[in-house]
Amino acid sequence: MFLKVENLKKSYNTGDVTTMVLKGAGINLDKGEIGVILGPSGSGKSTLLNIIGGIDRCDSGTVSVDNIEVTKLTDDRLTDFRRENIGFIFQFYNLIPNLTVGENIEVVSNISKNPLNTDEVLKAVSMLDKKHRFPRELSGGEQQRVSIARAIVKNPKLLLCDEPTGALDFSTSRDILKLLENINKEFGTTILMITHNTAISEMANKVFKIRSGEVVESIVNKTTIPAERIEW
Ligand SMILES: Nc1ncnc2c1ncn2[C@@H]1O[C@H](COP(=O)(O)OP(=O)(O)OP(=O)(O)O)[C@@H](O)[C@H]1O
Ligand SMILES: [Mg+2]
Repeated sequence: MFLKVENLKKSYNTGDVTTMVLKGAGINLDKGEIGVILGPSGSGKSTLLNIIGGIDRCDSGTVSVDNIEVTKLTDDRLTDFRRENIGFIFQFYNLIPNLTVGENIEVVSNISKNPLNTDEVLKAVSMLDKKHRFPRELSGGEQQRVSIARAIVKNPKLLLCDEPTGALDFSTSRDILKLLENINKEFGTTILMITHNTAISEMANKVFKIRSGEVVESIVNKTTIPAERIEW
C-alpha cells in the first residue's frame, strides 16, 4: 500500500474549547491511484490532507507514504520529506505575486533533488508562452495551471489537491482535471484530491466520504470515467 492512513486523530484548542476534528480517520491508496475525498464543509478534509502532506501534525494515528512513516518524523525530516515527495495544489493557487511564472516554478525546482525541466513542465500545462508574466496578469485557470506546474516540477510521488477546481468555471475545471489525469498517467503520480463536486469522483479509483472527522464510506470504483466525459 502506497498511502496508508490509520486511526488518525486531531483536535484543535481555541480558548477553553477543544474540538475533535479527526476522530480516527483512515484511508489508503495504491501507487498510481487517484483518490477523491468528499465531505461537507468543516468535516476535516483539509486537516486530513495537510497531515498526510506533513504541513500539520496529528495527535495520534499513523500516516505512511511509500513506506515512510510520516507521523514518526522529526520536524527537520518532515520538511525534507515534504520537499522531496509531496506536491500541493490549493484552491486559490498560492503563487508568489512578485515572481514571474517561470520564477514561481524555479523557487521549487531550485531546492529539489531531481527536478523536471521548467520549460517542459510549463509546456505540459500549456503555459510556456506566458513564462515571463506575473500571476496578476493571468486568469484563474492559468494561475491554477502554473500552480500545478509548480507542484509537479519536483516530480512528487504524491500530489495532494485541496479543491483544485473550487474557484473555476466548468470548462476550465475540466481542463484542470484532464491535466491532473495526464500527470497521473504520464508520471504514475498518485493523486489525492478534495472536492465538493460528486461528479469529479467518477474519475477516481477510490472515493472517501468524510463526515465530522470520520471516513464513513470508502468506495472502490471498478471503472472510472475520463475527466473529458465528466459533466455537472
Ligand atoms: N488551526 C485551527 N484552529 C482551530 N480550528 C481549526 C483549525 N483548522 C481547522 N479547524 C477546524 O477544524 C474543522 C475542520 O476544518 P477543515 O479545514 O479540515 O474542514 P474542511 O472539511 O476542509 O472544510 P471546507 O470544505 O470548508 O474546506 C473546522 O471546524 C475548523 O473550524
Ligand atoms: Mg478545506
